[in-house]
Amino acid sequence: MEHERKTEDPAAGLESTERVSSASPSAPHLLIVAADGTWTSRPLPAGGVLTIGRGEVDVRVDERAVSRLHARLEIAGSGELRLIDLGSANGTVVGGRLVRSAGVTLHPGEPILVGRTVLSVHAPAGERAAEPAPRPLGTGPVAASVGDLVARAAPTLISVLLLGETGVGKDVVAERIHRLSTRAAGPLVRVNCAGLSAALLESDLFGHEKGAFTGATSAKPGLLEAAAGGTVFLDEIGEMPLEVQAKLLLVIEQRVVRRVGATRGTPIDVRFLSATHRDLEAEIRRDRFRTDFYYRINGLAIHIPPLRERRDEIDGLAALFADEAAAGLRRPRPPAFEPDARARLHHHDWPGNVRELRRVIERAVLFADGGAVTSRVLFAAGLPDHPLPAPTGAPDDDRRARLVAALAACGGNQSRAARLLGISRNTLIAWMRRFDLARPRAREVAR
Ligand SMILES: Nc1ncnc2c1ncn2[C@@H]1O[C@H](COP(=O)(O)OP(=O)(O)O)[C@@H](O)[C@H]1O
Ligand SMILES: [Mg+2]
Repeated sequence: MEHERKTEDPAAGLESTERVSSASPSAPHLLIVAADGTWTSRPLPAGGVLTIGRGEVDVRVDERAVSRLHARLEIAGSGELRLIDLGSANGTVVGGRLVRSAGVTLHPGEPILVGRTVLSVHAPAGERAAEPAPRPLGTGPVAASVGDLVARAAPTLISVLLLGETGVGKDVVAERIHRLSTRAAGPLVRVNCAGLSAALLESDLFGHEKGAFTGATSAKPGLLEAAAGGTVFLDEIGEMPLEVQAKLLLVIEQRVVRRVGATRGTPIDVRFLSATHRDLEAEIRRDRFRTDFYYRINGLAIHIPPLRERRDEIDGLAALFADEAAAGLRRPRPPAFEPDARARLHHHDWPGNVRELRRVIERAVLFADGGAVTSRVLFAAGLPDHPLPAPTGAPDDDRRARLVAALAACGGNQSRAARLLGISRNTLIAWMRRFDLARPRAREVAR
């Protein structure tokens, strides 16, 4: 297991030569390199050419998937940036598209994918451009399974698409990405794309001039302008009408927004996050979503799994919501959870995901009335009452389900699960064998 340990150290592969770090002190562009949950930033020279790759180059990215001489970044004296792929084996991706040897114009903040490393160049931004110190990322309550991706994407300006069922925490993750980004001091503007007509959505997003349409009695900037220096979160993007997609695509490509009724555009400086519970590729096949727009918003997709697929997070989230609810009710402390209540929380399928869990816990804290949360309290709080299987004489299906729920409730601890079920540890182990439930530790020892 010792192989390639070094590439897992985020700082290891990212040294650059003197040429890069001895850049002109007058407001240089910043190059941000993000890998494995941390990021580094360094000023770029005011003009010139930088090579990127695994070999003897200016910006080293030490990953197997990266070619020795992978890509080249050109910085024109005018400030224009170009990125060129140097015939790399695995390609370079900018804004979701493969870069060829002809190169592409690079916009400040646009993510460059080289292997698993994300690089981005940021325009000088006065004080804030002064070398931000690398800081720890990805702590706090987002779904543990996506925490690493969130931390990796946040500091770049990559457009992130958040996917997952309703209630899994897409809003929570969007906010987390914004707060961990270099734009945390700027606004986070959420646009709900559902339930708005194309016309309303357009005037919300792009703003309008005075007299642009009946009722436009004064000029109004749109949300894209309002989010300058910050992040725009396009929620329920799967509901966005096709015509708005086409207009927004142009805005994202040109980085210029034109108010409805205006003759001239205004440059915008925003980072885009979006979210949907829909399968956008299926929407594309049904001609309800534009392919080119999809590639623009999907610099990186983060799938947030449903709560039933990460049951190990139930206890932590329940405790968090119980704390909050108790504080809201001015109770001195959150209630304890009886083992049967805990087993029930683990047994439920949570079709409404974390949102449903939060509601159930809030009501449970209320109904517990200062006492402990029992399964009866949870039932009163709206948790469906499909009973946990009876202890003995029940059909095997039920017994197996009960066993699984008990093990989950006890974090896999067999002695505690046995106690919870009211059976001996030996009986529990016999059940586990009978139902072919893995006993990883026991098996390892046996071999
Ligand atoms: N990881 C989490 N930590 C704390 N609360 C969460 C978490 N994930 C979701 N929630 C809560 O669950 C509810 C639904 O989350 P939300 O982000 O609105 O889901 P979605 O946008 O996917 O429908 C909100 O009340 C939110 O605060
Ligand atoms: Mg949401």
